[in-house]
Amino acid sequence: MRAEPETLAVVHDSLPHDSARLHVTGRATYIDDIPEPAGTLHIALGLSPKARGQLVSLDLSEVQSAEGVVRVITGHDAPGKNDTSPHLGDEPMLATDEIAFHGQAVFAVVATSRKAARIAARLARMEIASEKPSVSVDDARAEGGRVLPDYAWENPRVADALEASPLRLSGEIEIGGQEHFYLEGQAAFAFPGEGEEMLVHSSTQHPSEVQHIVARVLGVADHNVTIECRRMGGGFGGKESQASQFAAIAALAARLTGRPCKLRLDRDDDFVLTGKRHDFLTRYDVGFDEEGVVQAIDLQLDARCGYSADLTIGVVDRAMFHSDNAYFLPEAQIASRRLKTNTVSNTAFRGFGGPQGMVGIEAVMDAIAHQLGRDPLDIRKANFYRPGRDLTPYGMTVFDIETLLPLVERLELTSDYRARRAEIANFNAHSPILKKGLALTPVKFGISFTLKHLNQAGALVHVYSDGSVMLNHGGTEMGQGLYVKVAQVVADVFGIALDRVKITATSTAKVPNTGPTAASSGTDLNAMAAKIAAETIRSRMAEEAGRRFGCAAENIAFSDGVVRGNGQDIAFGALAKACVLERISLSATGFYSTPGITWDRNTKTGRPFFYFAYGAACSEVIIDTMTGEMKLTRADILHDCGRSLNPAIDIGQIEGGFVQGLGWLTTEELVFDAEGRLRTHAPSTYKIPVASDIPADLRVSLWHEPNREEAIHRSKAVGEPPVMLAISVFSAIADAVHSLAPGKPVSLRAPATPEAILDACDAQKGLA
Ligand code: MTE
Ligand code: MOS
Repeated sequence: MRAEPETLAVVHDSLPHDSARLHVTGRATYIDDIPEPAGTLHIALGLSPKARGQLVSLDLSEVQSAEGVVRVITGHDAPGKNDTSPHLGDEPMLATDEIAFHGQAVFAVVATSRKAARIAARLARMEIASEKPSVSVDDARAEGGRVLPDYAWENPRVADALEASPLRLSGEIEIGGQEHFYLEGQAAFAFPGEGEEMLVHSSTQHPSEVQHIVARVLGVADHNVTIECRRMGGGFGGKESQASQFAAIAALAARLTGRPCKLRLDRDDDFVLTGKRHDFLTRYDVGFDEEGVVQAIDLQLDARCGYSADLTIGVVDRAMFHSDNAYFLPEAQIASRRLKTNTVSNTAFRGFGGPQGMVGIEAVMDAIAHQLGRDPLDIRKANFYRPGRDLTPYGMTVFDIETLLPLVERLELTSDYRARRAEIANFNAHSPILKKGLALTPVKFGISFTLKHLNQAGALVHVYSDGSVMLNHGGTEMGQGLYVKVAQVVADVFGIALDRVKITATSTAKVPNTGPTAASSGTDLNAMAAKIAAETIRSRMAEEAGRRFGCAAENIAFSDGVVRGNGQDIAFGALAKACVLERISLSATGFYSTPGITWDRNTKTGRPFFYFAYGAACSEVIIDTMTGEMKLTRADILHDCGRSLNPAIDIGQIEGGFVQGLGWLTTEELVFDAEGRLRTHAPSTYKIPVASDIPADLRVSLWHEPNREEAIHRSKAVGEPPVMLAISVFSAIADAVHSLAPGKPVSLRAPATPEAILDACDAQKGLA
């Protein structure tokens, strides 16, 4: 009997997200949707009302006796260590003596309902000997506190090169932070098991680290703790390190009460308790020639890190790594300070410092263009890396730079940049109040973790005797489409339809010792590991098919759900069954580590990135110079995904990333008062982009050139780079402001809120 071929083509196809239907119908299971067993308890946290000081006394008697309260927990109750930091031991799970920021968690209430827990949490009597907090970057600089030592790529030639430059400019750029505003807040649901066992469902990008930290807090070996994550309702970097604290508290509560315990943060608490994108103050001193070509640059990056290190090492390093963006800086010195403040500990956020680094150099490009009275796009192109001018400030050659210029020139044509530039000049000449601006900016984003050991992944694949496939890997799904992409790769290996591959929840019990799903490398790493696992099984199946068909295993082909060789065929499922009867293992693990990554932070040498992802965006805005209002009217994007594994998913990432970057640079403003209180802790005071902020005219195209490196099916990572396409909007606003007094560099801070735009207009008109 001939096997029925199934129609399918899997890799490089625009297949829908595996959970798309569940998402839009509300049936996708998030932590808070997991059915609650009888006896489930709920947790609320008690927060510090002061930003800095010593906890003198803590009276929890009224909390304990409140209705529904089963248990009150402090940091002293941890049988292991009261420490939920990723590495350095500088983040207590619950503060026991020193208070380091306003809203820090001091105790946890475990009660029969969430409401009872929340009401009881307010009944604590906390006495804090408070001190004046260090809140702003200026406070921190005055006090001199650091979460980590200063780090720089020194260049002894910079001072002379700056002196020798025909022209020179210096300035300062304020770059604000950003709240993640994932739709699903931080959440964990812990189930106590037998003996020391603990299962925690955690909304985390990093199950292995959560496992390790839960074990540390409980004082048990890692093998007792299983962390599972089916999906997050968004992570955006905010759940790369920061889910651990909530998982640990839930696990400790479950241990102490012996009952399932759930902690789901209220949105306001989530704002106050969890770290954000680092805000930066960047200073530059740049030397250039009459053509605007940079000769030398001295950059000082000061980052507000909050009270602890968290992921600051990687975030601020990545800001340094992207302070060149697409530009050759012949003599560059890049220094950073990681400032300690009495604010929540800042963390990963899409782009991981890269966006902050890039905003700096793009502002420098605009300043040079404005000073010279030239089109900023021409200045940008004059400074692009190109063959022969392709060495980065950190000593890596940009080996794949040939993508950049053609990509930018294509967008320049398709966006009609030159003609619109002329139209806008004409419009502005006749419009005294409303001013238009246009900008086309590039993105070059390095792909890989700059901490070498994170560039590894594992996968587990089983083929069952009916030919259905179970797939598991260490990557987590946060809406970005990782699961479907990895499943596409596995289906392709076996030549079967996508729905034959079951994507299962990420679990530390299935794939151990993984890195976080971050740095945009989720697909690059996990799809490779899964492909290796699937290929191991396929070669065993091919051996068996070859034996049956009387040909070599190399001559066996897997496609359309059918396995063929020597003029014969068998359905994939029938072959799986035959293998089981022949006692052939249909289960395999796969492991992958990115080749060629050699960066050494101490010697400041080596190659940090496997390859670069490129993109460019052209944005047009209109501003009201009387009110500071701004509207993005059109955006054209051309983005490099290599040979896209799934163009529909990638376009979704590009649109989403761009709009998230737009929010960061234009409307999302975090305000801490002098007491260190976050005053913008809800959607009422913190404005993320909404549908009406998306430009009516948004054109997104993919640049299809294959990755030069052997990344999975020659695709490129896409999760973070598109955020930085939104710098074109910031630059277009600067362009509009510049038209008020051409020839003078614009002084615009990010986010470019109406207030910031008005301030910039005043400064441009010489009124400030
Ligand atoms: N897309 C959605 N829908 N939700 C998210 O939380 N996180 C971003 C990006 N895209 C995110 C997202 C971040 S910060 C990263 S690092 C990548 O996805 C992580 O996934 P990847 O490595 O699989 O691209
Ligand atoms: Mo993304 S900021 O690397 O989680």
